[in-house]
Amino acid sequence: MASKLLPRPLIYVVLLRLLICSWLFASLIQAEQHQRKTYIIYMGDRIKHNLPAKSLHTEMLSRVLHGVPSHKISEHLLHTYENFHGCVAKLTEEEASTIAGMNGVVSVFPNEKNYLATTRSWDFMDFPLNVKRSNTESDIIVGVIDSGIWPESESFRDDGYGPPPAKWKGRCQSSHNFTCNNKIIGAQYFRADGNFSDGDIASPRDTDGHGTHCASTAAGEVVEMASLLCLGQGTARGGVPSARIAVYKSCWSDGCHGADIMAAFDAAISDGVDLISVSLSVRRAQEYFTNPIAIGAFHAMKNGIFTSVAAGNSGPGLETLDNFAPWLISVGASTMDRQFTTKVQLGNGMVFEGTSLNTFDLQNKAFPLIYGGDAPDRSSSSEISRFCRQGTLNSTLVKGKIVLCDSIFGSVEPFLDGAAGVIMQDLQPHDVAHKFPLPASYIHVDDAARVLSYTRNLTSTPYETILKSVQVKDTSAPFVASFSSRGPSPVSPGILKPDLVAPGVNILAAWSPVAPITGSALDRRSVSYNMIYGTSMACPHVSAIAAYVKSFHLDWSEAAIRSALMTTASPMSRASNEDGELAYGSGHLNPLKAVHPGLVYDAKVGDYLKFLCSQGLNASVIRVLDYEFSHCQESNTNWDLNYPSIALPTSL
Ligand SMILES: *[C@@H]1O[C@H](CO)[C@@H](O)[C@H](O)[C@H]1NC(C)=O
Ligand SMILES: *[C@@H]1O[C@H](CO)[C@@H](O)[C@H](O)[C@H]1NC(C)=O
Ligand SMILES: *[C@@H]1O[C@H](CO)[C@@H](O)[C@H](O)[C@H]1NC(C)=O
Ligand SMILES: *[C@@H]1O[C@H](CO)[C@@H](O)[C@H](O)[C@H]1NC(C)=O
Ligand SMILES: *[C@@H]1O[C@H](CO)[C@@H](O)[C@H](O)[C@H]1NC(C)=O
Repeated sequence: MASKLLPRPLIYVVLLRLLICSWLFASLIQAEQHQRKTYIIYMGDRIKHNLPAKSLHTEMLSRVLHGVPSHKISEHLLHTYENFHGCVAKLTEEEASTIAGMNGVVSVFPNEKNYLATTRSWDFMDFPLNVKRSNTESDIIVGVIDSGIWPESESFRDDGYGPPPAKWKGRCQSSHNFTCNNKIIGAQYFRADGNFSDGDIASPRDTDGHGTHCASTAAGEVVEMASLLCLGQGTARGGVPSARIAVYKSCWSDGCHGADIMAAFDAAISDGVDLISVSLSVRRAQEYFTNPIAIGAFHAMKNGIFTSVAAGNSGPGLETLDNFAPWLISVGASTMDRQFTTKVQLGNGMVFEGTSLNTFDLQNKAFPLIYGGDAPDRSSSSEISRFCRQGTLNSTLVKGKIVLCDSIFGSVEPFLDGAAGVIMQDLQPHDVAHKFPLPASYIHVDDAARVLSYTRNLTSTPYETILKSVQVKDTSAPFVASFSSRGPSPVSPGILKPDLVAPGVNILAAWSPVAPITGSALDRRSVSYNMIYGTSMACPHVSAIAAYVKSFHLDWSEAAIRSALMTTASPMSRASNEDGELAYGSGHLNPLKAVHPGLVYDAKVGDYLKFLCSQGLNASVIRVLDYEFSHCQESNTNWDLNYPSIALPTSL
């Protein structure tokens, strides 16, 4: 066909091009294959061997690495794990697949980047500060794997704390002016590839804010009159304010790498933490043992440590979960009754109510209003500039004005062009109040149409102002936030995931004063408390209540604690959550009830191994994960696991 359409000379050109392309492509592939990248080699249960793990790994690499002199081999071994058998190494693709085929190797996978998925929330859950507390609460150690911590925050002061509990074996990597105290009893950072970016400091100090926020939500001290620039003012506190915090920093400005997440689990297990809180999303894996969080939590479980993990922020679609292994608890995010509205007032007196977290007080001063579509840059057009994307607006025209944009997603570009404010629009009311580096609000599309006709009808300059946000009561709460990832589990449909939900919207907690308040690095305001949302914020609520339950039942297994949290969760309704159990699992975390669950569904290591049989794992592989394991039984199915909930997938 093609030869009929193309005159002959062209065919040669096309052929020649194809040849050149494939030659280029082939040499690129070759270069790619010979370039060494960082891989994680996972080999299951901790070694029972006289040689130290490091020597074993060096020996293994020396058999595989091509063209590397023997004295340089150890430079390719970046990290060796202790509580499970595995290491991090620089390998070519070919070397990686050679190792993957070796006896006893469970998986070899690239060291990929993953991302970080009031406090009125405790009162909203009927968990007041003065609840009955166990006198062992201050012996509970909460391990937090995140972006580090800001140790000088009020939330982590240690007045009245005794020395760390005797079981603590961890340490404090004091660097860059970072010191621990009797509240933050340990802190370490992990970066196997040593490739720090500008702005990252080799210290457990948190320059992002996320880790500080999560740690203080779980176990922060009581701090009165905390607020984000007067919004959400109240007492900030963690669920277990007297528990101790151990910090494991695996997240840097370019994300959280798998090797560093696993190193954090490894250290937390050695240090003797009681539970681990992980507010991270990993790239959705289709297997458990190529997922760094699933692997880390598996070994935590073998050591009796409970792991709480954010379900992910990829909702509202189905099967969007990031974390769903049965040996961890997957936490979705729900709303609470505190919502924020931001009014927009036109020069003609009309007022529209929008959603956002507007921290700016314009003191009713009105600014000229302009529609993004009426202010295109020379290189742009009205059809493009109406969305206010970066580089499409004429900054001379928008400077000092409030810009009306047709954008549905958050738009900070007018900020870069010197605008005084921005109005965005959406079809549905947002369940999340977003923050912007300039006065901003989201209004309904119908209201936006009215604002537009007001702007265009007027012969004189139209004026408008954006008011500071006010707190309103949302009586429909709690419902599952739109961003919260939904089930079913892509790997084990018989296990209902997420397990439960907890507050994850507009959560006020401690913040790093050096971290931007909004996503924009150009926002130079500094605060000690910030309000953010995500399943990342829901996860430490569950970690805290797990710690609370543990403080009353020191001998409970991780499965017993998970069971207690799930069976006592408050039922939620399908009426306000159309995805039902696939969105909220067992329901809404109920802290006080969780201590008295009655029945618990316990599970031991052997039960999870049987579960892995049902996943089709070969018994010889399972024996690598646990030396005690003997063989798989024929009849195992997903839902044989003694789990507090069950999902029966139907093929409709
Ligand atoms: C270390 O921290 C203290 C307390 O915040 C501060 O006063 C001091 O300037 C810091 N030093 C450095 C070198 O950052
Ligand atoms: C180090 O990080 C930079 C920027 O994040 C990246 O471009 C570079 O490829 C990385 N180097 C290695 C050896 O991974
Ligand atoms: C912006 O608008 C002003 C006033 O209409 C005009 O003079 C200028 O050329 C425009 N600039 C660009 C880059 O489009
Ligand atoms: C703008 O003008 C149109 C047509 O005259 C009118 O229907 C509409 O109500 C006006 N809008 C406002 C906000 O005044
Ligand atoms: C399990 O895997 C091993 C090694 O890959 C293989 O030799 C064995 O036949 C497998 N067993 C079963 C039951 O599939």
